[in-house]
Amino acid sequence: MKAPVRVAVTGAAGQIGYALLFRIAAGDMLGPDQPVILHLLEITPALPALQGVVMELNDCAFPTLAGVVATDDLNVAFKDVDYALLVGARPRGPGMERKDLLEANGAIFGPQGKALNDHASRDVKVLVVGNPANTNALIAQQNAPDLDPGCFTAMVRLDHNRALSQLAEKTGAHTTDIKKMTIWGNHSSTQYPDLHHATVNGKAAMSLVDQTWYEADFIPTVQQRGAAIIKARGASSAASAASAAIDHMRTWAQGTAEGDWASMGIPSDGSYDIAPGVIYGYPVTVKDGKYTIVQGLAINAFSRARMDATEKELREERAGVEHLFAK
Ligand code: NAD
Ligand code: LMR
Repeated sequence: MKAPVRVAVTGAAGQIGYALLFRIAAGDMLGPDQPVILHLLEITPALPALQGVVMELNDCAFPTLAGVVATDDLNVAFKDVDYALLVGARPRGPGMERKDLLEANGAIFGPQGKALNDHASRDVKVLVVGNPANTNALIAQQNAPDLDPGCFTAMVRLDHNRALSQLAEKTGAHTTDIKKMTIWGNHSSTQYPDLHHATVNGKAAMSLVDQTWYEADFIPTVQQRGAAIIKARGASSAASAASAAIDHMRTWAQGTAEGDWASMGIPSDGSYDIAPGVIYGYPVTVKDGKYTIVQGLAINAFSRARMDATEKELREERAGVEHLFAK
């Protein structure tokens, strides 16, 4: 067994938290030889419920769970953490767009960014799940001037996995037969799930599907999947969101496989003519804990228009929250 690492999870008594903590504690995120100390943050009224979750975590007797800290104090929650999964926020209800949550949830992520800045490990890996995830990640990053801006990422992995599932179903393949799926942009209904670089059992995905299915079925289904789940369940996705969060962090820690990549919301460096600074979904490879944007992909006019539309939304969201950035 390695030395334990510290993993913070906010909103730990919520529905994603309940689907997430047991998998992190079981070693699904960082491996069966990597013990974890969980740092669980909740708002004060939810601490009794959180205590129940801690009791259940202990009752699992996981070999890889080395300790649990449960708190409503940001400074305790983020002390020396190596990983932080920022989940705690209000979910949207039927008829809302994720950006309708900006005011309510934006105020959460500034103080959390500051506390990470003051207390976390200097190479902490932060994943923002709470919506609107990309712009919340930007708010946290902009309140953490002493940390590398690249420490802050947002989750588009759920969209990536949804796209894999839709394409697998359409082509009669398994999701593991698909490589090089890409989600560009925002985790919102403007996101662009791009099949132009994807392969299914080594064949170009776009040669296996027709343009009408791609435009009228695949893209809107992936873009609207969160809303479809809310309609069906009466609550937003939880187990699939937790699973995608595990995938995002495992990829970041352990790397991408040869010949494949993953989609991560990361600070734009201007690649593909996207405004620098916005947290944009990009195809990335990961090695030794560092992600790198896949360069040199051919972008046709259809893709360009969609990549620009989701970038425009992110620039607008950024303009609306600049008052929450540290001066
Ligand atoms: P939930 O309401 O079940 O749980 C949220 C929890 O966060 C609650 O227990 C609440 O007490 C806690 N919380 C609120 N403010 C907090 C704060 N300041 N500090 C710590 N904890 C706080 O919600 P959920 O279903 O678990 O969803 C959480 C968030 O994740 C929502 O914003 C939802 O929209 C988002 N989400 C994102 C994705 C994605 O792909 N990025 C997928 C699913 C859900
Ligand atoms: C999702 O994509 O399932 C989440 O972001 C929840 C939502 O509001 O759609």
